[in-house]
Amino acid sequence: MERTLSIIKPDGVARGVIGEVIKRLEKNSLNIIGMKMLRMTKAQAESFYAVHKEKPFFDSLTNFMTSGPVVVMVLEGENAIAKYREIMGATNYMEAAEGTIRRDFASDIEKNVVHGSDSPETAAFEIGFFFNSLEITG
Ligand code: RTP
Ligand code: MG
Repeated sequence: MERTLSIIKPDGVARGVIGEVIKRLEKNSLNIIGMKMLRMTKAQAESFYAVHKEKPFFDSLTNFMTSGPVVVMVLEGENAIAKYREIMGATNYMEAAEGTIRRDFASDIEKNVVHGSDSPETAAFEIGFFFNSLEITG
């Protein structure tokens, strides 16, 4: 069993696809063991995405991530990190496979509906960033 962090980004919440994303998680045996809605501050978004701080899109990304509420979830399942990234699709929705969340709902390389951890180390950091142990079931 593995855990990963999922975020439904502000564009996904605004476009009304929370239910659609959750339906796909459930269908793919990614169990939700923690969930909350919140709006990040700029400082929080900057520390969450600290690995990207030298990238040209860092300021735009952190502004976008604070532009509205997000839904953050802890997912658990076999191979959860890779499985969830497969369901999300490529960062650039135009390169994402048919039937993936980003292919179906994203509108922009930045406004790509969902986030998923990319390794066990980042998953541990990202889950701890948003959740304490009392907020995670199972
Ligand atoms: P995420 O971290 O959100 O799950 O996405 P990812 O691994 O597929 O992509 P990553 O390289 O980690 O980039 C993080 C987020 O930054 C935005 N981005 N914008 N303008 C651009 O060229 C660009 N590249 C990336 C996207 O919102 C991406 O998900
Ligand atoms: Mg990433």
